[in-house]
Amino acid sequence: MITHAITAGQLTEFAADVRAGLTKPVQKELPSKYLYDRIGSTLFEVISELPEYGLTRADERLLRRHAREIAARVPRPVSVAELGSGSGKKTRWILEALSGPQRTFYYPIEISPAALAEVERELGRMDSISIVGLEREYLDGLLEAAARRQPGGHLMVLFLGSTIGNFDRPQGLEFLRQVRQLLLPGDSLLLGTDLEKPVPQLLDAYDDPLGVTAAFNLNLLARVNRELDAGFNLRRFAHSARFNPEARSVEMHLRSIERQSVDIPRAEIQIEIAKDETIWTESSHKYAPDEVDAMAGQSGFCCDAQWIDREWPFAESLLIAE
Ligand code: AVI
Repeated sequence: MITHAITAGQLTEFAADVRAGLTKPVQKELPSKYLYDRIGSTLFEVISELPEYGLTRADERLLRRHAREIAARVPRPVSVAELGSGSGKKTRWILEALSGPQRTFYYPIEISPAALAEVERELGRMDSISIVGLEREYLDGLLEAAARRQPGGHLMVLFLGSTIGNFDRPQGLEFLRQVRQLLLPGDSLLLGTDLEKPVPQLLDAYDDPLGVTAAFNLNLLARVNRELDAGFNLRRFAHSARFNPEARSVEMHLRSIERQSVDIPRAEIQIEIAKDETIWTESSHKYAPDEVDAMAGQSGFCCDAQWIDREWPFAESLLIAE
């Protein structure tokens, strides 16, 4: 069995979050960050290959096609900090375009040591790039990367893959403000955002016919079973993806197909779930291109340039700290 090594401290936080989320009175929920244990991260890699889920490919296409133009707008010397680097695969083009005679420091920021090891394997042999993995939460890692900036040097932050879409809009804006506070005027943030598209296309992307996204979602209950000794029977839940028109987001839920009660000993709770009641596990917000511009303005950045993929509407926006 594949298990993900976690520390006692993390387990306590996981148990507390599960307890808080599953005892909410109106809508039960589990935080989406827990989707990414070892199995979940592997399933997400597979999702990225699915024909119905064009987001990751659009992000990669834009970075590959426009890396030089993007790099040309960034002053040197520059250090690069990436929030949630994953394997670092799609960062290669930007790093290549940025690298010159001077050494470029690259700080991938990830809570998973396995992902940082993967970055080292993927990018470790690039000439003139020094990789310094930071096993931290995003803002703690960015603080560390900012503290290590070269005298007179710039910092470029990468926040790719529309991870910002997994925050709700106010939280996303607040996050951009917090990032801005750690930067100096002239530093940059390359922000990837998935754009609005027809609802049927979105629902296919988040409920693919192969059932990979369903497995990705159900793995969250499997993880609660593995790590908190819970008694979820995965066969009694169904994956569901729905579009929320007010929030302009795709929500993932786990729907209970019958009335049931579930014991979660290490979170010290037993929960009752009604037939058709759902556990909300993730929201993926979709943006309009000029909305990114507005968010930049409200968080202390200005949008210097934006590149949009037409095949799968997705934007890469270069924001400069004011
Ligand atoms: C990581 N994140 C941007 C993905 C998304 O599209 O919201 C996670 C995901 N959830 C279901 N499929 C992919």
